Amino acid sequence: MQDSVPAAIPAHVGIIMDGNGRWAKNRGLVRTQGHLEGLKTAKKIVKAASDLGIRFLTLYAFSTENWKRAADEVGFIMDLVKQYLRAEFDFSKKNKIRTRFTGDFSGLPPDIQKEISDSVADTAGFEGMQVVLAINYGGRDEIIRAFRKLSQAKENGESFGEKDLSLYLDNPDIPDPDLIIRTAGEYRTSNFLLWEGAYSELYFSGKMWPDWEKEDLQAAIADFQKRDRRFGGVK
Ligand code: FPP
Repeated sequence: MQDSVPAAIPAHVGIIMDGNGRWAKNRGLVRTQGHLEGLKTAKKIVKAASDLGIRFLTLYAFSTENWKRAADEVGFIMDLVKQYLRAEFDFSKKNKIRTRFTGDFSGLPPDIQKEISDSVADTAGFEGMQVVLAINYGGRDEIIRAFRKLSQAKENGESFGEKDLSLYLDNPDIPDPDLIIRTAGEYRTSNFLLWEGAYSELYFSGKMWPDWEKEDLQAAIADFQKRDRRFGGVK
């Protein structure tokens, strides 16, 4: 009998944490209450992902389109981000979790910028899982920003290819996501990791984000482990 080979844990998982608003509405609560529960879930899933040995976890916390929401909801989400970054330092230290960022940093309020820069700097030496916070993030925006930087770096008329552009994305050292999860029963990727997610496996869960538990992450990974990834080639 052949020894069984342990199934691979995805190195990089991205999560579109959807359904906070509906979770709250279904309970007769205000939308912000759903985001508060969503933050608690995010902490739980960060721990679960770290325990599972995932190397990179990208969380879509706020998109470039989310500014269209009511000002109080936007403010509430920004405060939650601050709260997360402040309150999680001890946890990050204990679990060696490093904070990273993706998105248009310059478009964020100065207090959030400071909180993010501090957390990124304070955790820079940690060698456990890296949590990439996607805030004021849009896939198209990231590609445009990369393109502008690349155009500046290249002499007029000098040709470039995919590899050149990918070096100017927000985190060129992080591998492309193996798995992208979206909760709350919507089947779209909503401008999340457009470039990096070209060959990501997609997993959709019907559960609202605040209802997610570590078992849901385990189920997503078990499903991923059954996928046949060919990256456009043949086996
Ligand atoms: C999508 O649900 C969720 C968001 C736009 C905000 C997500 C933010 C958090 C969970 C808090 C911050 C997290 C971290 C990790 C710092 P929705 O409001 O679109 O839900 P709906 O589709 O049901 O209305």
